[in-house]
Amino acid sequence: MKNQLKKIAVFTSGGDAPGMNACLRAVVRAGVHFDLEIYGITGGYQGMIENNIHLLNAGSVGNIIQYGGTILKTARSKEFMTPEGRKKAYNNLKEIGIDGLVCIGGNGTYTGAMTLQNEYGIPCIGCPGTIDNDLYGTDFTIGYDTAINTAMDAIDKIRDTADAHNRVFFIEVMGRHSGHIALNAGIAGGAEGIFVPEKDNEFADIICTYEKKSRTKQFSIFVVAEGDEEGHAFELAKKFQENYPETDIRVTVLGHIQRGGKPSANDRILASRIGAHAVKALVEGINGQAVGIVNDQVCFTPFETAIYHKKEINENLWVMNNILTR
Ligand code: F6P
Repeated sequence: MKNQLKKIAVFTSGGDAPGMNACLRAVVRAGVHFDLEIYGITGGYQGMIENNIHLLNAGSVGNIIQYGGTILKTARSKEFMTPEGRKKAYNNLKEIGIDGLVCIGGNGTYTGAMTLQNEYGIPCIGCPGTIDNDLYGTDFTIGYDTAINTAMDAIDKIRDTADAHNRVFFIEVMGRHSGHIALNAGIAGGAEGIFVPEKDNEFADIICTYEKKSRTKQFSIFVVAEGDEEGHAFELAKKFQENYPETDIRVTVLGHIQRGGKPSANDRILASRIGAHAVKALVEGINGQAVGIVNDQVCFTPFETAIYHKKEINENLWVMNNILTR
């Protein structure tokens, strides 16, 4: 059933992720389909506070589906975390008559949306945009597929030089407090060992496996999630060196390269589906929730659940990888 929605605004917030542009395109084009006025907020929540809000049309989002980054820019706003900041932001939205918000980003973006909706009653809907894949309520987040492919390509390249020099490499990937990128890029890149925050004592296990293999293996690749509880790649490499003083070890931190680049087909499709369904949901009166795709079905998860439930790594993949790397 249709409600009286007339004007919606869309923004991207938090760390950018490849596919955010595809999501913006879908939101705007779906908005046009539903005869809505669509506004773009440049610079996330900070842009909302600074009234950086402008009208978009179908043409505003032409020729962007293939680009990483976000044409609406993004930010992490400290001011929006204050009641004064949110009041300014809300007043700007009210002035234009915005009656629905599509919020594309990660956990922090959802927290901001939930707070704004709770305080001012403005209907918000979330779209999961982060390379970390750490949002509950969707199998995959927008940007994750591209990021693991970028990480895999980098691992492949490092493998060449590791092989040429008979070296051991510790490669650090992003993921904040989660190990989705490390586990999946590590499997795809054939890493010998993977360190994720969700598991303890990988170092001891890896040493044990390495002992058995060191007679035949001349080089090794270990993938480390930046949030691993045993330390960052440099610390783990140091520990490894203490155990194997003769080994030639190098560390590569992949960093922000994982956030950029052309979104993969999977990310563009995911972003398009999620963006279009976010607008449809707002029109149908669904809000206070995040859109996700679970088992290929569109679903909605209340912000609170999406924010506070941890999305675990795939245990089957973890077990399988331990078998494959023995
Ligand atoms: O959430 C995406 C992410 O890239 C994380 O993987 C990483 O921990 C963080 O953002 C880095 O943030 P910044 O770009 O602010 O350094």
